[in-house]
Amino acid sequence: MARLLEVHALSKRFLGLRALNGVSFVQEEGEILAVIGPNGAGKSTLLNLISGLLRPDGGRILFQGEEIAHLPPEARTWRGLGRAFQIVSPFPELTVRENLLVGALFGKPGTSRKEAEAWVEEVLELTGLWPKREAPASELTLLEDKRLELARALATRPRLLLLDEVMAGLRPKEVGEAVELLKRVRAQGVGILFIEHLMPAVRALADRVVVLDHGEKIAEGPYEAVAQDPRVREAYLGRKA
Ligand SMILES: Nc1ncnc2c1ncn2[C@@H]1O[C@H](COP(=O)(O)OP(=O)(O)OP(=O)(O)O)[C@@H](O)[C@H]1O
Ligand SMILES: [Mg+2]
Repeated sequence: MARLLEVHALSKRFLGLRALNGVSFVQEEGEILAVIGPNGAGKSTLLNLISGLLRPDGGRILFQGEEIAHLPPEARTWRGLGRAFQIVSPFPELTVRENLLVGALFGKPGTSRKEAEAWVEEVLELTGLWPKREAPASELTLLEDKRLELARALATRPRLLLLDEVMAGLRPKEVGEAVELLKRVRAQGVGILFIEHLMPAVRALADRVVVLDHGEKIAEGPYEAVAQDPRVREAYLGRKA
């Protein structure tokens, strides 16, 4: 069974602060893994290390069996790592379709214009953006913006999609739509590693959940099991009190 992602003893410090401390886990091909934990637990740091925005102080990151921790972000994109940000950043003056074409052309070197255009049409269908394809990105609603951010990551043809709180700010009905959309993405064989504070979305989507607290992994397993874990409950209650 091919392993999509392996993280071994991954660590990152900011000055004196241990943002991530010896975290290890494995993600299989096509699996949906959620990363949860209280504010400041190290979730975004973990994603930034995997996507290449940050370099680790220690540990290893294997993507499809290859060490990637030393590679710049674009080389990781070419190998099949796609990332959507919490803060959406399309090219506002370009249309939705043009934004996706940029991702499709630069996400994989050697992609022809024809291949890119065909793939963009599929992504437009998959993400429900087809009716908006000729609209300038600047004219989208918040929900459409989030779809575009996801679509831009998909346009690069990822094997693994990294998502940092992409559902924040959505209404409950919209969260349900986003969950259905991500299920369609996974049905295409794409693995998803997502950070989310909205527990209904975690429960509905995740095959397994990794829980971080103070930079350490404190639990891992199916949602129902980690939700019952005393260490996990304490980590959340401790912060809220
Ligand atoms: N660039 C940075 N420089 C210094 N400290 C940082 C930096 N990025 C993150 N930190 C610190 O590292 C710790 C982990 O931050 P991180 O953003 O990974 O947490 P998080 O789990 O994503 O939290 P949240 O749920 O609030 O998004 C926090 O204490 C944070 O203040
Ligand atoms: Mg974060």
